[in-house]
Amino acid sequence: MKGDLVFIGAGNMAEALLQGVLRGGRWPKARLVLTDIAAERRAYMARTFGVRVLADNAAAVCGAQLVVLAVKPQVLLAVLADLRPALPPDALVLSIAAGVPTAKIEAALGGVARVVRAMPNAPALVGCGAAAICAGRHAAARDLGAAEQVLGAAGLVVRVPEQDMDAVTALSGSGPAYVFYLMEAMLEAARRMGLAEATAQQLVYATVKGSAELIMQDGLPPQELRRRVTSAGGTTAAAIAVTDRRQVMAALVEAILAAQRRAGELARG
Ligand SMILES: NC(=O)c1ccc[n+]([C@@H]2O[C@H](COP(=O)([O-])OP(=O)(O)OC[C@H]3O[C@@H](n4cnc5c(N)ncnc54)[C@H](OP(=O)(O)O)[C@@H]3O)[C@@H](O)[C@H]2O)c1
Repeated sequence: MKGDLVFIGAGNMAEALLQGVLRGGRWPKARLVLTDIAAERRAYMARTFGVRVLADNAAAVCGAQLVVLAVKPQVLLAVLADLRPALPPDALVLSIAAGVPTAKIEAALGGVARVVRAMPNAPALVGCGAAAICAGRHAAARDLGAAEQVLGAAGLVVRVPEQDMDAVTALSGSGPAYVFYLMEAMLEAARRMGLAEATAQQLVYATVKGSAELIMQDGLPPQELRRRVTSAGGTTAAAIAVTDRRQVMAALVEAILAAQRRAGELARG
């Protein structure tokens, strides 16, 4: 690597990605740089990971080969205005800011920057993320490859056209919330059935993790796996009869489509 890998914003996501990059060992530690607005956060990152930290975003990107934009979308445009005069013309910009189109980032950087946009999700924080990436107007296939290296250290990465980003946001970006919602329901039912909270938590968490493992290892579609654990006249069939009657599947599909519509509204600003 000839230049620095710079994270602008050293929050939760930056920390997760940095940990992955450090584990992967591909980027020399001396070439890793982080910035953050909060002195406390900078001190924590320097102390924990032994990487260079700076308060000045523009100074941080002077020697950058790859700049990861890891600040909240609300502050992104102000940050880009700071970076613009200092960004090396050959630096690749990887934005993980939810809902900000590549065209907006390109425009804020003067129109010619190579930009890759990513939509990661929260399980990246434990190295089990699911992210989609898309290329901006000037980004090439090898730029997507570079983005995959950074994000791949924190989980799965798939390539999509940018027009699919709202759907990705609704599906895997918001996806963990749907799974947590189901877990909330399972825990509420456990309470009503009188199970001890700690026992219920252990059973629910392991069931969700085990089901995800099973489907990934088996490769069978979810409806087939569900059919296999649902005997006619049995307990699971009694549960599914209620979810069918209450049209839970249709409600969840509608919910995800609402998230996609909202992602589009937010992206259009
Ligand atoms: N977390 C997720 O699950 C998730 C999923 C998908 C996408 N994303 C995207 O990932 C990005 C980062 O999310 P996050 O959860 O890591 O947020 P976060 O923890 O709030 O991290 C952002 C960090 O940037 C700092 N910051 C604010 N203004 C700055 C500036 N001008 N210069 C440098 N640093 C600045 C913040 O400091 P203060 O807190 O002091 O303001 C904070 O430490 C967001 O754009 C989000 O949309 C996150």
